[in-house]
Amino acid sequence: MTMARIGVYGLGTMGSALALNLAENGISVAVSNRETDWIADFIAEAGPLAAQLHPHDRLEDFVAGLALPRVILFMIPSGAPMDAMIETVASMLAPGDTIIDAGNADFHDTRRRAAALAGRDLHFVGMGVSGGEAGARHGPSMMVGGSKHSWKQLRPILDAIAARHEGDPCVDHLGPDGAGHFVKTVHNGIEYADMQAIAEIYGLMRHGAALPPAEIGGIFAEWDRGPLQSYLTGITAEMLQYADPHTGHPVVDVILDSAGQKGTGRWTVVEAVRLGQSANTIEAAVGARSWSSEKHVRMAAEAVLGGTRGVFDPGPTALGEALLAARILAHSQGFRILAAASQEYDWTLDFARIAEIWRAGCIIRSALLDDIARAFRGGAPEGQLILAPDVAETLARAVLALREVVAGAVVAGHAVPVLSAALAWYDTMRQGFGTANVIQAQRDTFGRHGFERLDTPGRHHGPWWD
Ligand code: 6PG
Repeated sequence: MTMARIGVYGLGTMGSALALNLAENGISVAVSNRETDWIADFIAEAGPLAAQLHPHDRLEDFVAGLALPRVILFMIPSGAPMDAMIETVASMLAPGDTIIDAGNADFHDTRRRAAALAGRDLHFVGMGVSGGEAGARHGPSMMVGGSKHSWKQLRPILDAIAARHEGDPCVDHLGPDGAGHFVKTVHNGIEYADMQAIAEIYGLMRHGAALPPAEIGGIFAEWDRGPLQSYLTGITAEMLQYADPHTGHPVVDVILDSAGQKGTGRWTVVEAVRLGQSANTIEAAVGARSWSSEKHVRMAAEAVLGGTRGVFDPGPTALGEALLAARILAHSQGFRILAAASQEYDWTLDFARIAEIWRAGCIIRSALLDDIARAFRGGAPEGQLILAPDVAETLARAVLALREVVAGAVVAGHAVPVLSAALAWYDTMRQGFGTANVIQAQRDTFGRHGFERLDTPGRHHGPWWD
């Protein structure tokens, strides 16, 4: 029996796409799935790639069909199903074998699983895979955690299937245990913020300037040829051109304005707060999705509060610059969360490398990431992206537009939660002297918590306690 180089268990959308990508790159793949009828269907549809695919209905046969040291990639629902699978398969494995969880998993689970399996000389790798079905099939960005032992085995396989940016495979080992899954989580947090900023800019053109979706799509297409080039900019440009085949209306106008969310954006916010970080652009995006799901409440509220949105048309140049500023600020917040986690979990994350492997394959791929990678390679002061000279210079210009757009949008009654959060954070960070002195005075007044002074070391209380 041919011993496959890697096993893929879970032939859903992402698992089957990854298996075909592996096979297309000449890698022999054992495949299996809980619902065994999916296996035969998958092989039947694989065409000539079936020659590299070795189907197994039974998990025992699937494991037995793998070359040593075994590598099994699971693409199954995170949480309890992954724990149950580990429980079942671990006893079939030998020391030095690797289990990869390629789903969107909570990195705390990944750390726990890696520690538990290390005790049995088994390696557990949490791997973030980004790019959706097309990415998995033709080249994802992959964020790999786990041991160096596993990475040594995985690197040639993953290099072969990864997306490439100017020949550079968009995959790397980012750190031990949960580092890979955490970086993917923050990738998704940035994704949420970018998607919401795009939606807000779209909303200003649609409801403030009364432009038709197709014309707005043309503006996004123009932006996609400049500093705003990105996967999300591009797909927005494309989808705004479509008419609904049933009504003839722009398809975006017939889609219910209630956003789904599987939860990775929310995880990012939770971890940011746990780490003492604030990523208000990401929180604003998660909040906006939650508020959008309250469609009935908003319909009732419009009847009571009035839904007037005034005319506001700052023009495509200002809107584009505002979107660029918001994108930079959201990424900056994402990297601050990564920095906090890297310190907390002793991961020594390489932010330039993370930006580099996001340049192709993943959902947030963009021209901006090249600038971000260069900024981090060049040494961002205090590790802060917004203080890197080139980034600070771009922001100084683009924030002028962000300020004009947020001010005009707010006055005209348009909701811009991410754009306004980005501006609020920027304005906070650029003030050497803020207003938290008032917070400290209040806390000392009601709780005698004490405060530090600007002019004298030590802990002090206000004269109200004399
Ligand atoms: C990716 C995407 C993907 C995401 C789904 C659903 O990087 O390929 O981020 O992993 O989880 O597209 O995302 P939401 O339901 O959270 O929007």
